[in-house]
Amino acid sequence: MMVVSLEQVYKEYKLGKTTTTALNGISLQLAEGEMVGLMGPSGSGKTTLLNLMGGIDFADRGRVFVYEQALAEMSDRQLAAFRSRTLGFIFQSFNLIPVLTAFENMEYPLVLQGMAKKERRRRVEAMLTAVGLTAVKNHRPDELSGGQRQRVAIGRALITRPKLVIADEPTGNLDQKTGKAIMELMKQLNEKEKTTFVLATHDPMVVSYTPRVLYLRDGLIVREEVR
Ligand SMILES: Nc1ncnc2c1ncn2[C@@H]1O[C@H](COP(=O)(O)OP(=O)(O)OP(=O)(O)O)[C@@H](O)[C@H]1O
Ligand SMILES: [Mg+2]
Repeated sequence: MMVVSLEQVYKEYKLGKTTTTALNGISLQLAEGEMVGLMGPSGSGKTTLLNLMGGIDFADRGRVFVYEQALAEMSDRQLAAFRSRTLGFIFQSFNLIPVLTAFENMEYPLVLQGMAKKERRRRVEAMLTAVGLTAVKNHRPDELSGGQRQRVAIGRALITRPKLVIADEPTGNLDQKTGKAIMELMKQLNEKEKTTFVLATHDPMVVSYTPRVLYLRDGLIVREEVR
């Protein structure tokens, strides 16, 4: 079964009188347990593509399937369940909740799932250790550095043990060593749980972890590497 499948997907954005074609006919399939890198110049459509895969935005034409279900045909309730149970999304802009601490931001998806407090704590503490944030767990986002915020966003996305992880430049604010530690964590999850990963990045280190790399330009996949 394909985890993600796109069929001839198009997406335009209109701003005032100008129309930008963000995706210009994309088809692709991701199998379970794949780790795929997505590269391409700024503005080539990477974030748009990830948003469509995560059901955060919808295609103008073409179809997007996740586990063989068309995202555009899901009810709001089904979409919410998909986001909460299946998907871990790491936003380019982090999207942390400003009034919650690092600990609470990571805990929040587990609260939504109705997990008991004791189990939540255990999971959050383990994830704080894994992403190296134990010392700052009681800091709010505005009291964290950019790289620390990024790691909270990563921890929050991985904490529910999602089947599909979509990450938008997950190492953009991290030094090489911290970035590598994060990629090792993702690789472990990929190997142990067969988690599927899609990672948009400008960082060659990230794609050194992804056996498959798709190159986007002007809203099209112009090249694919399998190593
Ligand atoms: N909400 C929006 N409204 C208008 N135009 C948009 C919107 N979102 C994206 N675009 C345009 O769509 C195109 C693709 O943008 P996208 O964010 O997908 O690029 P990207 O590959 O993620 O770039 P980067 O590497 O800088 O993150 C760009 O030309 C961008 O200006
Ligand atoms: Mg982007």
